[in-house]
Amino acid sequence: MSVYTAILLNLYRLKAADSANWIRLAEFLYDLTLRSLRFCEHWLTLKKRILVSNGVPSMAINVEMARQDTPGCFAAVYLHHSGASLMPSPVIEAVRHHLELELMRGGYEAEEEAKDQLRTTYASIARMLNCQPGEIALSESATASWNSVFYGIAQTLKKGDKILTARSEYVSNMIAYLQVAERTGVKVLTVPDDEHGQLDVKALEDMIDLDVRLIAVTHVPTHNGLVNPVNEIGQIANDYNIPYLVDACQSVGQMALDVDQMGCDALSATGRKFLRGPRGTGFLYVRQSSLEKFPPANLDLHAAVWTAEDQYEIQPGARRYESFESNIAARIGLGVAVEYAMSWGLTEIYSRVRFLADRLRNLLSDIEAVEIRDKGKEKCGIVTFSIDGVDAGDFQQQMRTKNIKCGVSRRSIAVIDLDDWGVDSLIRAPVHYYNTENEIDYFVRQVRILASALQWALGEFVSCWAFSHASRARLRVVPQR
Ligand SMILES: Cc1ncc(COP(=O)(O)O)c(C=O)c1O
Repeated sequence: MSVYTAILLNLYRLKAADSANWIRLAEFLYDLTLRSLRFCEHWLTLKKRILVSNGVPSMAINVEMARQDTPGCFAAVYLHHSGASLMPSPVIEAVRHHLELELMRGGYEAEEEAKDQLRTTYASIARMLNCQPGEIALSESATASWNSVFYGIAQTLKKGDKILTARSEYVSNMIAYLQVAERTGVKVLTVPDDEHGQLDVKALEDMIDLDVRLIAVTHVPTHNGLVNPVNEIGQIANDYNIPYLVDACQSVGQMALDVDQMGCDALSATGRKFLRGPRGTGFLYVRQSSLEKFPPANLDLHAAVWTAEDQYEIQPGARRYESFESNIAARIGLGVAVEYAMSWGLTEIYSRVRFLADRLRNLLSDIEAVEIRDKGKEKCGIVTFSIDGVDAGDFQQQMRTKNIKCGVSRRSIAVIDLDDWGVDSLIRAPVHYYNTENEIDYFVRQVRILASALQWALGEFVSCWAFSHASRARLRVVPQR
């Protein structure tokens, strides 16, 4: 109330109370009221969550409350979080609110008004990763972020230099290495897996020599529950002073990440997956002391300043990896998604995710035709499997008829792993903290029904085929008259 009174008094004193100013004042007060209400709502929600946990801030997830925030989870059993998860209401509201502002003010003025919220997005991401806001660059995707550092460093590589990566590397990163290898003669070497199926840290160390110019790995692959040992890899990269780039696209939002513990120079991630942010958002972390190791692949008027006819200056911090045009509403939504995830606690999120994923893997492994494909010592929320004789795409379509949304990974997404296993496609059923045990059980029941129906149909087909084959063979041996 005192803020309102102060504003009114000041306006009165300034004799600014003509009609245009009154309209602006009314708009301002309306906006302030909405913001205050939103803040109170947010605060009450957080408080409610803490109360539910008997005042201990680091609490078990209240699944019912999380689901109340997620309108999409009442429409279907959603097991597609590694494709794009469902946005919670506060994220949707934040995006909608900014779009409405753009509707009234136009994009540029709306951006000016939202500059504090935008600043919050950088600060929230930095807090989540344990770094400084100036070490964060926003983009429209994880790939755009990753490319902006990788293609920058690629410009400094020459024939004979080596890039070390993992066997379960993300497909677009692999394609980028191969393209750079083709252009420059750089060697791309994949480090073998250890007995658990994760990157073999000892083998990595053995492969290091003076030609190794980059270690780049995917923390959690797109097609697997594997969690690569990024901290141990970082230890080696730092010991040998080799730049280290981590793709954390699938790990961010499902587990706690700490760039200091990882020892990485740069890390890229997306908004729409386990973080539950809007589509078209991504971000990049680059350690302040590593900025010079990673020259940006491209510059524009936002990443650099044109200072004289023949001169420009690159932005001092990580903003040098950004470009001018962006979806402000989505970026604000991303910040809210990060805050939202942190309000549950990333450690708590991960323990629930692992609990549900273990349950799913255990139940699936009881089905004879099912083969679980997740590798690694530590397995996360991405559950992948194949069913004998069943194409993952057909399975996905069948599941849609049962109101279940799950994903598919084809061979071209992970050539090395799928060739190792001799399969063309995998079913991907990642879980998130707001899934329920009942949903997992329902999904498994549908898998069991479908697997046995398909197996039965396959059996019938094979016996029909064998019968008709045998009959034809018998016909052939009938003596001609
Ligand atoms: C491991 C990994 N890295 C990077 C990406 C690319 O993310 P984006 O589509 O946001 O560029 C994906 C997307 O599935 C991914 O799974």
